Amino acid sequence: MILVTGGAGFIGANFVLDWLAGQDEPVVNLDKLTYAGNMENLAALKTDSRHVFVQGDIADGGLVAELLARYQPRAVINFAAESHVDRSILGPEAFIQTNIVGTFRLLEAVRAYWNGLASGPKQGFRFLHVSTDEVYGSLSRETPAFTESNAYEPNSPYSASKAASDHLVRAYHHTYGVPVLTTNCSNNYGPYHFPEKLIPLMIVNALAGKALPVYGDGQQIRDWLYVKDHCSAIRRVLEGGGPGEVYNVGGWNEKPNIEIVQTICALLDELRPRQAGGSYTSQITFVKDRPGHDRRYAIDAHKLERELGWKPAETFETGIRKTVQWYLDNPDWVSRVQSGAYREWTDRQYGQTAESVV
Ligand code: NAD
Ligand code: DAU
Repeated sequence: MILVTGGAGFIGANFVLDWLAGQDEPVVNLDKLTYAGNMENLAALKTDSRHVFVQGDIADGGLVAELLARYQPRAVINFAAESHVDRSILGPEAFIQTNIVGTFRLLEAVRAYWNGLASGPKQGFRFLHVSTDEVYGSLSRETPAFTESNAYEPNSPYSASKAASDHLVRAYHHTYGVPVLTTNCSNNYGPYHFPEKLIPLMIVNALAGKALPVYGDGQQIRDWLYVKDHCSAIRRVLEGGGPGEVYNVGGWNEKPNIEIVQTICALLDELRPRQAGGSYTSQITFVKDRPGHDRRYAIDAHKLERELGWKPAETFETGIRKTVQWYLDNPDWVSRVQSGAYREWTDRQYGQTAESVV
């Protein structure tokens, strides 16, 4: 079996669902269930004995050691993290604790477990660390896309904490020989995306008749990848990646934020026209910029394509249509996510810049 951490979050839940849809190898899912962890994402697996859910912290070395000893996984895939840049700006502490200390404790437990394995399982074992393109910093419009050999230049507490975790993962391979793999992926979108991030926030706010808050001039560029393509890339790297190797994952889909928001508005105009008439674009509101806002990310995913034969299956046009349709089809998921802690967070983040955003 495999051990997945953070499997109740956006990408982790999509990964677990896709994994068990494609094969029978069981999954142990360790998740702390922070505000971003949502068991409803895994509702389809409620009675599935191939999925073992454990609520707990990756920084709890004793718990991780116990799970490794009990379930003897052939791989650990680390999705668990604090993942939202704006939250890291308001409160970096949790990012240091989970992304750095948590990854360190997880690596320590994995190192001890791996050292104790017999030679066959020891050779086949992999620790796959799911990271981000944000560790490479910000590009100008003319600069080539990030390759695996770009220097790390993280600019936010989030990306700095992910960079630190990547360095620890690298060091555990170089120093102790732990067979690690690291993936650095661009921006994901798709089902179960928590509506604090750009794409789901714009969809749910548009439908609620609220402001669509675009930071600064809206010309920042991100490279968007449908979440299920990220999951297929991780499976590919797990199967074929070389220990100690790093793989960039991206969708070849660079777009300015304002274009993303306009595309969502156009799809909603078509699929769920406003009762009051007119386009959802009339709800777009330019708000104060994110401090230290990275201007452009772009991923060069040639290594993954060349060495492991991976390519994304979705274009942005097909992926964004599926995503908008998923939010239209799942209003109960949205309304439950919007209750509780999420509201408190939204007030703190948007109170000064836009009225009643969520
Ligand atoms: P998310 O915030 O939606 O989910 C994170 C999950 O981790 C949640 O279920 C949460 O409960 C859990 N978690 C948090 N702290 C934990 C801890 N200490 N112990 C155990 N579980 C904990 O994040 P996501 O968007 O699904 O991202 C998953 C991973 O992918 C992260 O490592 C992130 O850095 C990386 N990543 C994300 C994107 C993106 O666009 N979302 C892109 C590239 C890389
Ligand atoms: O690049 C990969 C990263 O993508 C991941 O590592 C992070 O976990 C993930 O959250 C994401 O980070 P971003 O900061 O790029 O994503 P976010 O959805 O927060 O913002 C996308 C862009 O949209 C960014 O330029 C900021 C802008 N934005 C965001 C929000 C929430 C707005 O203009 N308005 C908003 O309300």
